[in-house]
Amino acid sequence: MKAPERIRGARFTGIGYYLPEVVLTNADFERMLDTSDEWIVSRTGIKERRIAKPEQATSDLAIEATNRALADAGITPEDLDIILIATATSDMPFPSTACLVQNRIGASNAAAFDITAACSGFIYGVTIAQALIASGKARRVLVVGVETLSRIMDYEDRATCVLFGDGAGAVVMEACEPGDGVLGTYLKSDGSYADLLFLPGGGSRRPLTEEGLRNREQYVKMKGDGLFKYAVRAMVEAAEAVLREAGLTTADIDFLVPHQANLRIIEGVRSRLHVPPEKAIVNIDYVGNTSSASIPIALGEAKDKGLIKRGDRILMVAFGGGLTWGALLVKY
Ligand code: UT7
Repeated sequence: MKAPERIRGARFTGIGYYLPEVVLTNADFERMLDTSDEWIVSRTGIKERRIAKPEQATSDLAIEATNRALADAGITPEDLDIILIATATSDMPFPSTACLVQNRIGASNAAAFDITAACSGFIYGVTIAQALIASGKARRVLVVGVETLSRIMDYEDRATCVLFGDGAGAVVMEACEPGDGVLGTYLKSDGSYADLLFLPGGGSRRPLTEEGLRNREQYVKMKGDGLFKYAVRAMVEAAEAVLREAGLTTADIDFLVPHQANLRIIEGVRSRLHVPPEKAIVNIDYVGNTSSASIPIALGEAKDKGLIKRGDRILMVAFGGGLTWGALLVKY
């Protein structure tokens, strides 16, 4: 009788990211709104963010990051079993952005679908990919975090629009020996705080009408102070849970890659976890908050700069609308 297949591990074999070329600086906002570089930098740590060109949709950004991740992994689109895209800004309500990407890159053997978990989308996506690989359902999965948040920003709402930017990050995940690759995952949600960060218009509850457009329902609404209170606590809880699951402490971690929502949140999480500053990957100053794309962009940049190396233990942690939060521990 054939021995049952062991549960398999899942590791990152390729990482790629893409930032659109157009830069929106704090000085640009000073010309558009009643705000200042001093306020934005001191309250958020953000100096500039990237914005997709009008002709660039979410799938275009996703494909740029995907091509880089596939090249890094040394595989072709046909090798993919699953394409999983985490986004809150899909090209259109359906079909999924993943299906659009599948067609354009020629990933003819892949099943493709999107997931929505706001800023935690990449953590959720990698967790699903890991489970598909562990169960033997898939051998090679592409996970993309991608957003064109500039399309859903209210550029008259100074408390929100200065925070967010556009971008994409992608990882290729492949089966490996158990104990390598993803060492632990943790996911949580609390829908009772859905009103802290949401986009009211354009769904089945409030289909867009002329009145809705006049009321700016097509744009993101955010209660920043409410989110701020939960963010640090939730991210620390997730990081500690995932470390506990793996039997490790932050002293065993080579890098912390936190979701880039606000420099003060990142610093709060880093210091409560007792991670030294040189181990925290921070790019919020020139990328802003790119929601589900923020962790894979930061990861890709750190890899390209030679900071993150094979064998490093990397702790990733995110928090966002939903509410959703979670953490990943990966041996790269
Ligand atoms: O990606 C995950 C989800 N997002 C987050 O986790 C975001 C979490 N929240 C935050 O990062 C912060 O709450 C913000 C950066 C959004 C705001 O910082 P804050 O220190 O919480 O400021 P605040 O909301 O308490 O606002 C303070 C003041 C207000 O004026 P009044 O009412 O005190 O007179 C705002 O109107 O700052 C004003 N303000 C601004 N002033 C200049 C808000 N935005 C701006 C601005 N420029 N851009």
